[in-house]
Amino acid sequence: MTATLIKGTVIREQILEEITAEVKQIKEKHGVVPGLVTILVGESPASISYVTLKIKTAHRVGFKEIQDNQSVDISEADLLALIDKYNKDESINGILVQLPLPKHIDEKKVLNAIDPDKDVDGFHPVNVGRLMIGGDEVKFPPCTPAGIQEMIVRAGVETSGAEVVVVGRSNIVGKPIANMMVQKGPGANSTVTIVHTRTKDLAAHCKRADILIVAAGVPDLVKPEWIKPGACVIDVGVNRVGEKISEKTGKKIAILKGDVDFDAAKEIAGSITPVPGGVGPMTITMLMLNTLKSLKFKLGIA
Ligand SMILES: NC(=O)c1ccc[n+]([C@@H]2O[C@H](COP(=O)([O-])OP(=O)(O)OC[C@H]3O[C@@H](n4cnc5c(N)ncnc54)[C@H](OP(=O)(O)O)[C@@H]3O)[C@@H](O)[C@H]2O)c1
Repeated sequence: MTATLIKGTVIREQILEEITAEVKQIKEKHGVVPGLVTILVGESPASISYVTLKIKTAHRVGFKEIQDNQSVDISEADLLALIDKYNKDESINGILVQLPLPKHIDEKKVLNAIDPDKDVDGFHPVNVGRLMIGGDEVKFPPCTPAGIQEMIVRAGVETSGAEVVVVGRSNIVGKPIANMMVQKGPGANSTVTIVHTRTKDLAAHCKRADILIVAAGVPDLVKPEWIKPGACVIDVGVNRVGEKISEKTGKKIAILKGDVDFDAAKEIAGSITPVPGGVGPMTITMLMLNTLKSLKFKLGIA
């Protein structure tokens, strides 16, 4: 058997089209569009490429977008003042601070200074709390877990009563996706187990999973014999395992591998996400959705 591929690249296009259409409608009816600002401190090439992609996507769906580049030696006080300015700016619905920040700046202090109602990354403790409560309390689910849940739903995988096993307990992927899948409601209602490096028998837990979500950052950690036949396998891992020359551009690019032995796993799973092209493209997509939601909350139409 060969598993159905759940392609983030395809789902991304569907969602971005839905967002573009909704932005157009809101603009016609209310005369406003969602506003997103990304604050970039310094000139790290990786951060620049992430921010550029976010801004490009925001532009594509019709948002007002601002890329605010700051020098690497900006003081913590000046960065906090900048955030305060955007917190008060009525035309801005989402504020993103690209991480990591230089060592002289307290990252936690900066992230906590963002107005929770503009925290479209969903990392502010207020939004983490809202996620834990669930239901109508949730405003901005963190983007990667939200993307994972969206992929599972759009692939038509039954979540109610399903055994979900999450490998990894990070604050940005493992814990929030586990929390989201156990909530009452559509796309959730699952029975959830979280496993990590202290788990006694990783394989035994994975083998029980109807939906296996792997976010460990270890290439090929999950072996094909750990997968229940027909299971849905979501591979969040992005591991650089080498370099190659791109056929398209002739430039050096990273060879990426997931946390699941994909070639063998696809013969056992019912559905599976590839790496690259699986969960990866969903994160920025969900960021756009959160920014649109932020404006809708403000207009009272969410
Ligand atoms: N958009 C995207 O595509 C996206 C977004 C975020 C992350 N990622 C990728 O997802 C992966 C995980 O990211 P993260 O930020 O969650 O990583 P992280 O903070 O390093 O957390 C990894 C988790 O996996 C667990 N783990 C590591 N090795 C394990 C093993 N051998 N057996 C069992 N558990 C193990 C760790 O357990 P302990 O807690 O016990 O140490 C930890 O809880 C990375 O490859 C990252 O690049 C992709």
